[in-house]
Amino acid sequence: MTVNKLEEMQQSKAKIQQGGGEKKIASQHEKGKLTARERLNLLFDENTFVELDAFVKHRCVNFGMENVEAPGEGVVIGYGQVDGRLVYAYAQDFTVVGGSLGEMHAKKICKVQDLALKMGAPIVGLNDSGGARIQEGVDALSGYGNIFYRNTISSGVIPQITAIMGPCAGGAVYSPALTDFVFMVDKTSQMFITGPQVIKTVTGEDVSAEALGGAMTHNRTSGVAHFKSANDEACIQEIRRLLSFLPSNNQETAPVFEPSDDLNRIIPELDTLVPENPNKPYDMKDIITAIADEGDFLEVAPYYATNMITGYIRINGQTVGIIANQPKVLAGCLDINASDKAGRFIRTCDCFNIPVLNLVDVPGFLPGTSQEYGGIIRHGAKMLYAYSEATVPKITLIVRKAYGGAYIGMCNKELGADMVLAWPSAEIAVMGPEGAANIIFRKEISESDNPQETRAELIDNYKREFATPYKAAERGYVDDVIEPSATRPRLIDALNMLASKRETRPPKKHGNLPV
Ligand code: HXC
Repeated sequence: MTVNKLEEMQQSKAKIQQGGGEKKIASQHEKGKLTARERLNLLFDENTFVELDAFVKHRCVNFGMENVEAPGEGVVIGYGQVDGRLVYAYAQDFTVVGGSLGEMHAKKICKVQDLALKMGAPIVGLNDSGGARIQEGVDALSGYGNIFYRNTISSGVIPQITAIMGPCAGGAVYSPALTDFVFMVDKTSQMFITGPQVIKTVTGEDVSAEALGGAMTHNRTSGVAHFKSANDEACIQEIRRLLSFLPSNNQETAPVFEPSDDLNRIIPELDTLVPENPNKPYDMKDIITAIADEGDFLEVAPYYATNMITGYIRINGQTVGIIANQPKVLAGCLDINASDKAGRFIRTCDCFNIPVLNLVDVPGFLPGTSQEYGGIIRHGAKMLYAYSEATVPKITLIVRKAYGGAYIGMCNKELGADMVLAWPSAEIAVMGPEGAANIIFRKEISESDNPQETRAELIDNYKREFATPYKAAERGYVDDVIEPSATRPRLIDALNMLASKRETRPPKKHGNLPV
């Protein structure tokens, strides 16, 4: 090969790597954003990223596009290693035609999607784009369709993670929405179907882009995003951390880490953590971090439906998905959003062979017309469905309240819990003592000379009789009542016992989740 050919190749690669050029890169940095390549270099272990399709060009000749050079076609794709494991990624390059998506840009993304699926490796998408490249018309829309289709086919086979690191508008938002986890960077990312200007025209509402579709909006209000990161660097570190909890595909288990934490660790504080007064809240996260290896808890969707906690810990080095009621928020009631959040998380765990641990302190479903009109029946059903459908090891620990349908909804024995443990503070019954007394002792109370005293007495009786774990344990609905301080070794033991769990379901095309 002549030196000239080599130089030519090196020069054109160097030019492509400059993306939209110095000015555009400076403007990207001024906005507090990194470039696509800087992001990918942070995502992958040092020097492991291999770029593909750098030479791809668009072939649009509309509206002057024939004169527009778009180095790399506005998206960088490739593969590399994250903590030594194969991962695929694409990063949209806002410095090139605003990262807008045309036919060839989409083809590049589809290429890594196909490779990731074939190789059984996670895919990470870093989005920063003005959306469909307007000049490419229906070719751009076709590109999105191809991406959505692949998102769906890969769903449940390989982990798909998306980070929104700039604008993401219109139908473009549906690729992230089809993936397993969505990260957003605070202040520099926005997602919406229709932007502020269109909203103003159509409905007259005045709303800023940030209020409409910023990171906090989607983390707290809509539940579209699962993580909010302070900046690009933090976002990418958090993606790497999340990947460490996940297997590469649905035929593998998550990586097992050598635990540095004591397997027999007794936690005396747990014996006194639940307050005597059943109406007094406590922080369920104290239990989660206490039982986790080294107290490490990666919370998923920490801002949304905070009456329900979801996330990953490791126990004995093994990833465990946590689904827990939070008594500090709405007394830990199940409502529409909590049901959606938990249902989705349970299914994510089940897809990826991650055992689930359900920590129960639930007084029931949240009453009210807004819940009923909003379809709590349909949404709550998703949790029942997700738990029943899940074949991964399922462990339920009843910490305090487990009442009515919500007791079943948090995965009791009949929904397939392989091990149900309860603390002595557990109360398992059809409903709470006060509500129950009003119904079953109505006559005695109304006919009593001193209704208040009679009511208090009858409630006390009910509590002694029913608000305990022992009625359920007598029937075998609870496998054991344990000392709270011994929870961690008991869970380790249960997980070891369940490691060989094999459960099959009748063959079907797919179930009909009440979406
Ligand atoms: C073509 C685009 C583009 C697009 C941005 N650019 N978006 N080119 N198609 N969709 C170009 C700009 O012309 C500009 O080119 C460069 O990218 C940078 O854009 P700026 O506007 O200068 O950047 P900024 O001020 O930061 O504003 C970013 C922005 C804005 C908010 C994203 O560009 C914008 O509103 N773009 C249009 C967004 C949109 O409506 N997209 C369609 C959504 S609908 P120059 O040459 O000046 O540097 C959709 C449908 C998908 O995506 C359907 C899927 C089913």
